[in-house]
Amino acid sequence: MDLEDRIILVTGGGKRLGRAIALKLGRAGAWIAVHHHASGAGARAVVAALEGRGRTYRADLRSVPETQALVAAVLADRGRLDGLVLNAADFPRTPFGTVTERDWDDVFALNLKAPFFLVQSAAPALKSSRGAAVLIGDVSARNPWVEFLPYCLTKTGIAALTLGLAKALAPEARANAVAPGPVLPPARRDAAERARLIRSTLLRRIGRPADVARAVRYLLEADYVTGQVLAVDGGQTIRPDRD
Ligand SMILES: NC(=O)c1ccc[n+]([C@@H]2O[C@H](COP(=O)([O-])OP(=O)(O)OC[C@H]3O[C@@H](n4cnc5c(N)ncnc54)[C@H](OP(=O)(O)O)[C@@H]3O)[C@@H](O)[C@H]2O)c1
Repeated sequence: MDLEDRIILVTGGGKRLGRAIALKLGRAGAWIAVHHHASGAGARAVVAALEGRGRTYRADLRSVPETQALVAAVLADRGRLDGLVLNAADFPRTPFGTVTERDWDDVFALNLKAPFFLVQSAAPALKSSRGAAVLIGDVSARNPWVEFLPYCLTKTGIAALTLGLAKALAPEARANAVAPGPVLPPARRDAAERARLIRSTLLRRIGRPADVARAVRYLLEADYVTGQVLAVDGGQTIRPDRD
């Protein structure tokens, strides 16, 4: 899929990785529907940086009716939807032994339920434009962290959902995922934790948001690739032989 003049919705596009993805796709010629929840100012700054080639849309994606209304709003504005990047997610620390039902439901609602319902709503439009969805997983899906178990399980679900959506959208449209490793660690990580993260990668560095954005762009453009999960993790999932 050539991105020129394509209509692409990026969830959580107002900050951090979502912002980098929205800017990368917009600068490649697409018109970007920049979804946000709390980061309205950030989303407006993205549209401004794209010189108006986009619009902001607010939705709380934990609500299925809001996911449906978001897709409907973009379709009402532009008449089609060619690409969907499911980036919005929460990353709550929930040590095993303390997890509540509310913790579980909240993280599953945003990280797994919302991508499912967004793609289900957008599927007819994606199929008619031979478009593509790119989900955002996490390499921790393969080796879940005990302090973030519900989060990691949502990302295991994203890997499985990617396979199911590839089947559901075929043969007209595609679904793939990017699974980042350490790219933008939360600010709460201290220097020792950052050093340990760096040592855990083969490439001995933290990734950049542009590394993830480039992979998303590739998967939108790669017309013969579907049902794949591309790790962008500096080789973290291949354990270094020694620290
Ligand atoms: N950062 C990393 O190194 C890393 C590593 C592995 C995987 N990932 C994955 O990459 C993606 C982006 O990561 P990130 O670090 O940039 O995430 P982040 O900073 O935590 O941003 C989360 C995004 O989710 C949106 N969001 C939060 N609550 C929402 C709600 N109720 N309804 C709708 N949107 C909501 C936020 O929008 P507002 O700000 O507008 O509320 C924000 O744009 C996520 O899927 C994450 O799991 C990131």
